Amino acid sequence: MTDKNKKNRVVKAWVHQHVNDTYVNQAQKDGYRSRAAYKLLEIDKEDGIFHNVKVVVDLGCAPGSWSQVALNKVGLSGKVIGVDLLEIDPISRLNFIHGDFTEQTTLDKLLQAIDNKEVDLVISDMAPNLSGIKNVDQARSAYLVELALDFSRGYLKAGGHCLIKVFQGSEFDELVKLARNLFTQVLIRKPEASRSKSKEVYLLCKSKKPV
Ligand SMILES: C[S@@+](CC[C@H](N)C(=O)[O-])C[C@H]1O[C@@H](n2cnc3c(N)ncnc32)[C@H](O)[C@@H]1O
Repeated sequence: MTDKNKKNRVVKAWVHQHVNDTYVNQAQKDGYRSRAAYKLLEIDKEDGIFHNVKVVVDLGCAPGSWSQVALNKVGLSGKVIGVDLLEIDPISRLNFIHGDFTEQTTLDKLLQAIDNKEVDLVISDMAPNLSGIKNVDQARSAYLVELALDFSRGYLKAGGHCLIKVFQGSEFDELVKLARNLFTQVLIRKPEASRSKSKEVYLLCKSKKPV
């Protein structure tokens, strides 16, 4: 089989899986921009991460379903700031920052948006574009997790929670250790809406220790 035929088969299989995916269909019905919404909803149902939360930072927010969930949870008096490399179609009440979170200029815009004040909850679903080179992809992904933890160290309120997507790989234990230095409790969540063959899991970091 030629490379082109192989690629066509992979694309066809993905399309087949996508249109037959219950969460994709549900997202269309519920008005969410992606099936990822159900991962966050499921974790919140179990762990109540939005309890008493008014200000949320959503890292890697495109196309926007986590931000949609967060906006519903914080209500009209709350605030959600989303950051992504990719542009998104506007979402009412979302303060969106278009930029690369690894760059200082993006962090500066984010700090301006939160008024240099502490936030109640940090959620990060950031995932790097895959190069196909395992070590490179793992290192890039781990770096995004470290940055999300770093941001939480500086700008999440004491006692606040943080939810971060992590890919299981060689850096995993080290990242959990980093998170445990900062938070009272670190749990690993794999919601049903996360495809079982995906190596993604979520670090639920509860109750930031006072710095
Ligand atoms: C799985 S998607 C997020 C889906 C989102 N939670 C939702 O519910 O719609 C991962 C996102 O991370 C973003 N991302 C990856 N690296 C980033 C970076 N360095 N800075 C900002 N966003 C980044 C990607 O552009 C992508 O949109």
